[in-house]
Amino acid sequence: MLSKEDNELLTRVGPGTPMGNLLRRFWFPAMLEREIAEPDSPPVKLRLLGEDLVAFKDTDGRIGILDAYCPHRLVHMYYGRNEECGLRCVYHGWKFDVNGNCVDMPSEPAETNFAHKVQTTSYPAVARGGIVWIYMGPKEKMGAPPDFEWAYLPKTQRTATKRLQECNWAQTVEGGIDSSHISFLHSATDAQMEKLAKTGGGAPNRFLGRGVDRHPVFDVRDVDYGVLIAARRDAGEENYYWRVTQCLMPFYQMIPPVVPEDDSSTASYSGHAWVPIDDENTWTWTLSANPHRDFTAEEADRSGGENGMWGPIDENFRPVQNRDNDYKLDRDAQVNNSFTGIAGIPNQDAAVQESMGRIVDRNREYLGQSDTAIIVWRRRIIQLAKDLADGKDPEMPSHPEWYNVRSCATLLKRGEDWQEGSDWLRSGGEVPKAAE
Ligand code: FES
Ligand SMILES: [Fe+2]
Repeated sequence: MLSKEDNELLTRVGPGTPMGNLLRRFWFPAMLEREIAEPDSPPVKLRLLGEDLVAFKDTDGRIGILDAYCPHRLVHMYYGRNEECGLRCVYHGWKFDVNGNCVDMPSEPAETNFAHKVQTTSYPAVARGGIVWIYMGPKEKMGAPPDFEWAYLPKTQRTATKRLQECNWAQTVEGGIDSSHISFLHSATDAQMEKLAKTGGGAPNRFLGRGVDRHPVFDVRDVDYGVLIAARRDAGEENYYWRVTQCLMPFYQMIPPVVPEDDSSTASYSGHAWVPIDDENTWTWTLSANPHRDFTAEEADRSGGENGMWGPIDENFRPVQNRDNDYKLDRDAQVNNSFTGIAGIPNQDAAVQESMGRIVDRNREYLGQSDTAIIVWRRRIIQLAKDLADGKDPEMPSHPEWYNVRSCATLLKRGEDWQEGSDWLRSGGEVPKAAE
């Protein structure tokens, strides 16, 4: 449970809010690089942290992200012309470069020199790992984009997708770090499991499916980059099955592979970033990577293909299964096939998270032992926002190397310390130094 005040603090991200100020201290994914792939290609509308923006790639290939509204009379720059190293407003022709400088003002007499006095808001942006990263905070406090290993891998070893989610960002983060829901929300029905067993289809994961240990024991530890979450499930007389997940501040998560423990050191892993569009909408980014080898065609399609396991989305990245059609819930499938009757893991997540309302009232909830990770994450991020309001800067943005970690799933002997036992699986790979 959270007080009304803390719930407001946690969820509001607009300019000047405590949480908005905190999130603005971090670099984060703004858009797919392919959305502005070519120099002088059409500008693209963006909305992040409640601010309307416009993104473009200029003639020299530099990325510009500007306030959406022309500083003259506030026309939307999306209608502008991207030409000769700048974006030109179509109302009176004022033109701005990627740094927000007004470089041409044909509607005013040249001798006024007025153009030199006009500047629009621009945010630093860099491309890395197929993603355009943005920094929306004070320039003098700018750190570096996080050194996620996946962002440096060759294209053949990684994928990145984004989907619209129609609820507050904190709901999506909490959905992601809630490990216990996997055995319910994303599981098959008992009847389906029996059928699979008979036909030799097998369970998707022998430790996570229904019928195995469905009440994992959590151990959650505060670490430098955020929160390290271990979920322990029974796995025979001698062992425990551990899933170890990182929640990296402010809204990143690494998801362990689902493969058996023996393959964990060579397996793919995935992750999420939940980037607030505004208080009521979020970009759910899904990143998949294999640091050891190229994805097979099937893996690439399954993880990155917009029509793969993530389910189809429209041209605005909105899932085709959405709140307007109850996520295409199929009651027959709910009886005979899957626990929810909703196809696709992200659609199952979106259905439950969005069903709470755009901003859930955390004053009304009852949290149990399985919600430990959520409690710890909330406490940490709220504290960071309060500290910043008191003048104490968050440390993470100046330590991009803290983000070079992998998640893991492994079997350990009962009694063995999970953090020590899984250390070797959690360190990241080589990343280039000073890549920018
Ligand atoms: S409103 Fe943009 S140039 Fe006038
Ligand atoms: Fe989920």
